[in-house]
Amino acid sequence: MATNTFDFVGGDRGVWKVIRMDSVCGESLELVPCLDILPNSTANLNKGLWTLTGFTSNVRYAEKAEREKLVAVQSDLGRPLATCAALIPIRKSEKWWALAQDERRKIFETKSHHTETGLNYLPAIARRLYHCRDIGQPFDFLTWFEYAPEDAEKFEVLVKSLRETEEWNYVEREIDIRLIKS
Ligand code: HEM
Repeated sequence: MATNTFDFVGGDRGVWKVIRMDSVCGESLELVPCLDILPNSTANLNKGLWTLTGFTSNVRYAEKAEREKLVAVQSDLGRPLATCAALIPIRKSEKWWALAQDERRKIFETKSHHTETGLNYLPAIARRLYHCRDIGQPFDFLTWFEYAPEDAEKFEVLVKSLRETEEWNYVEREIDIRLIKS
C-alpha cells in the first residue's frame, strides 16, 4: 500500500498508553492497554488485538479561505509538549453517504460549523484525518488529535460541542480512545 497509509495497532505494546476507551455509539472495540501507529505494511511485527487502517487524502469540504485559515494556525503532530492524544474512529450512516456532496457540505459546515468551531481550538490541538471508507474497514474515518495536558479540558469542550451538531445525527459508530505518551 502507499506511504500515506497507516495502521493503528491496539495491543499490549506501543508508544501510546490507553487511559480511557468509551463507545460513544455503536459496537465497541476490544479494550487494549497500548496503541502503536505504524506505516502500513504486511510485515508489521506488532499485530496487536486489533488494527485499524487509514490513509491521508485531499480535502473534501474545506473551501479556499478555510484551508488558508487552517494552514495559518494549525500545529504539527509530534510536538514534545503534546503528551495527550485521542483516536476517535467514526462511521457515518448510509443516509449520509446517500447525500450529494453539496448537501453534505451544507450539513458539515453551513449548519454544523465544524471547521469554524474547530479553528477556535488551533493551534492547541494538532489534528490529522485518516480516511478508511471503501477499503474494507469497520469505520469511515480515523480522527487523531494531540494536545498538552493543560489543553485536555479544552478538547473535551470541543468534542462535546461537535457531538451536539446536526452532522453527528449521521454518526452511527464512534469510539473515543484517550491516550498518553508512555
Ligand atoms: C481540532 C479542531 C478541528 C478542526 C480544525 C477540524 C477540521 C476539520 C476539517 C476542515 C474537516 C474537513 C476536511 C475536508 O475538507 O475533507 C474535518 C473533517 C472531519 N472531522 Fe474535524 N476538525 C476538528 C476536530 C474534530 C473532532 C474533535 C472530531 C471528532 C470528534 C472531528 C471529526 C471529523 C470527521 C469525522 C471528519 C470527516 C467528515 C466527513 O468527511 O464526513 N473533527 N475536520
